[in-house]
Amino acid sequence: MSYQTEYDRSMKDPAGFWGDQAKALEWFKAPQTILTTDADGIGHWFGDGEMNTSYMALDHHVKNGRGDQTAIIYDSPVTDTKRKYTYSELTDEVARTAGMLADLGVVKGDRVIIYMPMIPEAVISMLAVARLGAIHSVVFGGFAPPELAQRIDDSTPKVILTASCGIEIKRVIEYMPLLNKAIDLSKHKPQSCVVFQRPQCNAPLAAGRDHDWATLLAKSKAVGCTPVKGSDPLYILYTSGTTGKPKGVVRENGGHAVALKYSMKAIYNVDAGDVFWAASDVGWVVGHSYIVYGPLLQGCTTIVYEGKPIMTPDAGALWRIISEYKVKSFFTAPTAFRAVKKEDPDALLMKPYDLSKLQVIFSAGERLDPPTQEWLTEKSGKTVVDHWWQTETGWGITANLWGVEPKPVKLGSSTLPTPGFDVRILDENGKQMAANEQGYIAIKLPLPPSCMNRVWGDDDKFREGYLQFLPGYYTTGDGGYIDDEGYVFVMGRVDDVINVAGHRLSTGEIEEVVAGHPAVAECAVIARDDDLKGQVPMGLVVLKSGATIDEEALEKELIARIREHIGGIACYKNTVILKRLPKTRSGKTLRKTLNCIVNGREYTVPSTIDDTSVINEIITTLRERGFLA
Ligand code: COA
Ligand code: AMP
Repeated sequence: MSYQTEYDRSMKDPAGFWGDQAKALEWFKAPQTILTTDADGIGHWFGDGEMNTSYMALDHHVKNGRGDQTAIIYDSPVTDTKRKYTYSELTDEVARTAGMLADLGVVKGDRVIIYMPMIPEAVISMLAVARLGAIHSVVFGGFAPPELAQRIDDSTPKVILTASCGIEIKRVIEYMPLLNKAIDLSKHKPQSCVVFQRPQCNAPLAAGRDHDWATLLAKSKAVGCTPVKGSDPLYILYTSGTTGKPKGVVRENGGHAVALKYSMKAIYNVDAGDVFWAASDVGWVVGHSYIVYGPLLQGCTTIVYEGKPIMTPDAGALWRIISEYKVKSFFTAPTAFRAVKKEDPDALLMKPYDLSKLQVIFSAGERLDPPTQEWLTEKSGKTVVDHWWQTETGWGITANLWGVEPKPVKLGSSTLPTPGFDVRILDENGKQMAANEQGYIAIKLPLPPSCMNRVWGDDDKFREGYLQFLPGYYTTGDGGYIDDEGYVFVMGRVDDVINVAGHRLSTGEIEEVVAGHPAVAECAVIARDDDLKGQVPMGLVVLKSGATIDEEALEKELIARIREHIGGIACYKNTVILKRLPKTRSGKTLRKTLNCIVNGREYTVPSTIDDTSVINEIITTLRERGFLA
């Protein structure tokens, strides 16, 4: 089958194409209506099918003879632990954990927050919630209490599942103080919290609210799978947008299962029984789709890795895992490869390992910069494939379809649109741009299965945030171009979203925290290019008149504030005090111009600015601070 035939069919006959893909899964009641499109052009998939994602990912395989195959390998260099779960063991563990949640009153449609490190219980929790037809919302363990509190208030969970601690290389991070603070901050209070006690830390439990995981699990009975409709939500995952408040992306059960199952073969070329590894975290969409659901729906073995690409113990960690578990298809973010390259430029730590089972290395989360792609290709001898996607889609919008027809790799491009995605480059009036011309990357509606079609708790927000700007299209927030062979080049965000080490953050949200400092009158948080992390935020700050704090003291205080409000993952380090910010006549800060200046790129001063001397002032200050040559 050629890529073009596959892609064309998905465009001409979406219902036929995806209806056929749905047959690869075991439904309780097969969907009769594959696609309906509402007045706004938003697609709804498999609405009348009956299913359970946990059943499709676990029980189905046990029933079909895969019970003794390894489902999960837990490899944790930070605790010196390795453990395997077969499909039978995992199914049993998930069914009993679902029983534990049912005993706490969780029923279909209830929300359960999962705030956990990279341990098997995090995956088990997700599948247990899904088993009950409830909705999980995983919150990345690196987020600070106010971020968790926002998600508690928005998703109003009945139960929160957590662990006593996470481990960052050698540092034990206690979760209970963070969770307690978040619950203090939130208006909504969960009925119960269940705490998985780890040997590294025993968390004190609040009487009445908190329960010990092992005690509850010992008393619980295995429960079966609750049928849900294809359109019922499986999970909510919060992601940063242009506003300070994160958006709850709703993922529906049916479209999600169908798209992920399809992608495992079409994109990653893995079959049941193969070992697939996405080195990410279950707190991110990559972790949801390709540590948990995709590989298990396909009957693969997946790896839960509690460690880093470097430092646990060294830059050979990724190669050790690939070799030890015979990984066929591997996937991580460019920042991880850059970290490995920096520590081990000659890839000497790759040499002891047999990587012969590895077919292809996949990269996503941020643009794979050509030097890193070239380095990795040369050192590993493998094909390195970039693919582009978002929390909102849950899987690749553009990719090189390794299981359909591998295409030649072009450096800097995430290859061709994936079946189902009608990718266009448009100008701000919705006019299509010619080949090689840069513009807004948009996707013509309806979006394929798995893509979001609503924001949790706010129907209008999806239309306003994604559909209003270019009617008939979903706006991705990314800019780029398509070349004359149809290859898509994603060049970066066109909004205020910033990508720090593959983690998506909003500069608007960081600005709110900086602006909350008592000495700050106003500020602009700008994404500065960074060799390792891709981008890092930098604060350009104007002080209130009369404020006497010096730059060094302010910088320290702002670093502490950002860590406390958002988390260390924001990697906020630099603050520059300016006399004033460049503004348009209507008072808008010229962020785009500032971005170019900070990154030493060419800039144009818009005609809407009266006094250009402010620009020279800023350049002089940045030079004095050593940020500009
Ligand atoms: N819980 C608590 N804190 C966390 C955390 C977690 N789950 N994850 C990160 N942090 C903290 C780190 O400890 C660090 O704190 P510090 O500033 O006190 O040292 C801070 O957040 C920044 O972390 P990180 O971005 O991981 O930087 P690093 O310098 O420790 O490591 C890399 C650099 C490249 C190894 C790391 O960024 C990495 O592994 N990146 C890959 C990211 C990824 O897989 N993304 C997936 C998206 S597809
Ligand atoms: P997230 O929702 O956290 O997965 O972040 C999605 C955003 O990350 C996208 O909108 C892009 O800006 C960026 N991104 C992800 N993958 C790629 C890629 N392969 N190339 C370029 N940008 C990417």
